[in-house]
Amino acid sequence: MVVERKMQPQLPPPEHRRALRFVVFLGISLLAFSCWALVNSRISDAMHDSSALLGDVDKTPALTGKEGTHLPAGDSITSASAAVPASGNTTAGAVKLSDPVIREPLVRGGEGERSGRCDADSAALRVYVYDLPAEFHFAMLGWDGKGKAAWPDVRDARAVPHYPGGLNLQHSVAYWLALDILSSSLPPGSDDDTARDRPCVAVRVTNASLADVFFVPFFASLSYNRHSKLRRGERVNRNRVLQAELVKYLMRKEEWRRWGGKNHLIVPHHPNSMMEARKRLSPAMFVLSDFGRYSPDVANLKKDVIAPYKHVVRSLGDDESPAFHQRPVLAYFQGAIHRKAGGKVRQKLYQLLKDERDVHFTYGSVRQNGIRRATAGMSTSKFCLNIAGDTPSSNRLFDAIVSHCVPVIISDDIELPFEDVLDYSEFCVFVRAADAARKGFLLRLLRGVSRDEWTRMWGRLKEVARHFEYQYPSRPGDAVQMIWGAVARKMHSVKLQLHKRGRFQRTGSES
Ligand SMILES: *[C@@H]1O[C@H](CO)[C@@H](O)[C@H](O)[C@H]1NC(C)=O
Ligand SMILES: *[C@@H]1O[C@H](CO)[C@@H](O)[C@H](O)[C@H]1NC(C)=O
Repeated sequence: MVVERKMQPQLPPPEHRRALRFVVFLGISLLAFSCWALVNSRISDAMHDSSALLGDVDKTPALTGKEGTHLPAGDSITSASAAVPASGNTTAGAVKLSDPVIREPLVRGGEGERSGRCDADSAALRVYVYDLPAEFHFAMLGWDGKGKAAWPDVRDARAVPHYPGGLNLQHSVAYWLALDILSSSLPPGSDDDTARDRPCVAVRVTNASLADVFFVPFFASLSYNRHSKLRRGERVNRNRVLQAELVKYLMRKEEWRRWGGKNHLIVPHHPNSMMEARKRLSPAMFVLSDFGRYSPDVANLKKDVIAPYKHVVRSLGDDESPAFHQRPVLAYFQGAIHRKAGGKVRQKLYQLLKDERDVHFTYGSVRQNGIRRATAGMSTSKFCLNIAGDTPSSNRLFDAIVSHCVPVIISDDIELPFEDVLDYSEFCVFVRAADAARKGFLLRLLRGVSRDEWTRMWGRLKEVARHFEYQYPSRPGDAVQMIWGAVARKMHSVKLQLHKRGRFQRTGSES
């Protein structure tokens, strides 16, 4: 029977065959198109998330016309500013060791700074750095140790591997921390400026039993930015592979097992980075931009550290910062009005403010409008609005700070970097989302701020701006040192927990 059927195939008539072929062709075309659309949306999503400022554009088609054309999704990585290790000359006049913000525990070892020696005894934090394979860190920047060196030579700041520019830089926190901690173990007394002038908050130790904290130098944000797409021949994207390998690596480590990972430091600063591994590695201390995409058991303020985004606009020097009367715009906002969640207040505010003459409320990315224009816009505005988007944080806040434009924070559950040592109310205005949505409330509030009051906040902004600078070589009180300081403070409570747990070690459980 079977054989017979095979021998007499029932071919459909030719016109049917043509129709069939057409249908198949149509199906394949549709499939190809949807694949393309999917990949495209993934890319723009990735871009979007990595760049609160930039991704905004494609979500507001109706409003972008005002500011220019659409941004092609996907090529946003190679944008505006180039990667420069020693970014921004903000030290001039800004670094004052007597600044009240830097309190004692932050710069323990101040003497170390002056004498040029920073060792395990004088530093607040002793850091053991895992020698992860280069693919987890500097190989992503094109560095190749050729099997000889575990780490790049960091003696010459101009010669260290560069981080990819543009909006990737926003989340480059792990890179700056890695460079700084590597430079702490340069041979003492070397002629090199990088070693001599380094602030002494954290120092690298190679003996694990001396370490306060174990630094896991995985450039998780860059891995997300770079490796989330499937490449040809891959069944799992590289970002996932690296995460799985990292988990395996750490679980094998005696140091991880001994303390359950609690004294380990991991830097998934991009809100979408380490999606797959974050739960497994959650006992560790994370350095994050916010808790928006974390469940409270995985990340929380008790164990984790909030770090600033690296700003994308140029920092203003103290002497070039326009004063009250030189800032004609009352309030400045740039971004999207439609956000996925928590961003409804933006749309509401747009309706309330769009017709005000001294309010600059535009929809577009920094890239689209140019870094220069954003710099100019913020530095000629008295207040810069910071409105909750799809994550509570964004680099807009840090752009405002370095533009000395008083941030108006309209986000009920934002977490701010270093808030245990910085009183943000001295240089920011906080407004509850519900209040901001009330007619006339915001403008009345901002117009009610007197020139003296504003100038006081402006003065404070100029003092604190340096705490939000990432740079290499790192300088006293910059973002890198502030993060080490925050980690050191948090380690006190981790140690308390660990020591308590160890109380009955000698007598065992039967006591
Ligand atoms: C930074 O500014 C200071 C003072 O304005 C200047 O002396 C120094 O050369 C500048 N450094 C760089 C790298 O531009
Ligand atoms: C590491 O430090 C501990 C404690 O000070 C010491 O006993 C040990 O000998 C050190 N190990 C090495 C390899 O130096």
